[in-house]
Amino acid sequence: MALQIEPSGQACGATVTGVDLTAPLDEDTVADIRAAWLEHLVLSFPDQAMSDDDLERFTLYFGPFGHDPYIAPIAGRDHIIAVKRAADETAPIFAETWHSDWSFQEIPPAGTCLFGITIPPIGGDTLFANQQKAWDEMPDALRARVSGKKAIHSAALGYSKDGLYGENDPGDRSMDIRPSDTALATHTHPLIRKHPETGREAIFSSVAYITGFEGMDPEASRELLIELYQWQTRPEFQYRHEWQKDMLVMWDNRSVVHMATGGYAGHDRLLHRTTIGERVAA
Ligand code: SIN
Repeated sequence: MALQIEPSGQACGATVTGVDLTAPLDEDTVADIRAAWLEHLVLSFPDQAMSDDDLERFTLYFGPFGHDPYIAPIAGRDHIIAVKRAADETAPIFAETWHSDWSFQEIPPAGTCLFGITIPPIGGDTLFANQQKAWDEMPDALRARVSGKKAIHSAALGYSKDGLYGENDPGDRSMDIRPSDTALATHTHPLIRKHPETGREAIFSSVAYITGFEGMDPEASRELLIELYQWQTRPEFQYRHEWQKDMLVMWDNRSVVHMATGGYAGHDRLLHRTTIGERVAA
């Protein structure tokens, strides 16, 4: 079966057909998918009736499992979480803020795989923004301000006890989120990072997880973060992903930020998610 790759025509993203992800893949196919992933940053594979075993096997072709904190894995699996929402749920939509997954970790995950199980008939798209393009096209004045900056990342805004998913979260959330004081820990990352595989530079910034910039006072940090956020998420850098049941999507957390969207009140939504850990040189 030959892989067919159809670019989305938007700022990133491509659809891949001509491959069966319910069966083991040979090395050449994995290499071709990896090359397409690094080029298009977000790949979707429609019509793949994958089991959890298939999802885990696919993930491990691209790296070790990442570590997923604060969300309990599904029963019987250590590395799969359920991104889910019930039709009548009132809690804020999970992950409806631009972010790169777990960027507060010392070594954040290279990528994420998300598999559509129950997809609402309307809404629930996932938005992606290409951070290589956003960096390449950044105006000189903003470029000068962000160059060389180091950002302080933390999970506190989301997963601390006072955070969005903390003790004040409405009680009807169907996801099993477990806030903790460990969310107060911080890790610093360069704001502009070189991709470890392609060398392409990209903005590594996330309003959900950055709490400030090294050497800047809180007010100046906040102003810069907002200005950066307004730039990095402009419509011309975005790809809007529309889900189908049995569709697998993989994205590159080093090159895109993403966010969930709502618009499906009255309908259930369920996806299974793994993260692809970064390969660290021995
Ligand atoms: C996520 O950020 O992993 C969730 C995205 C989504 O629910 O669309």
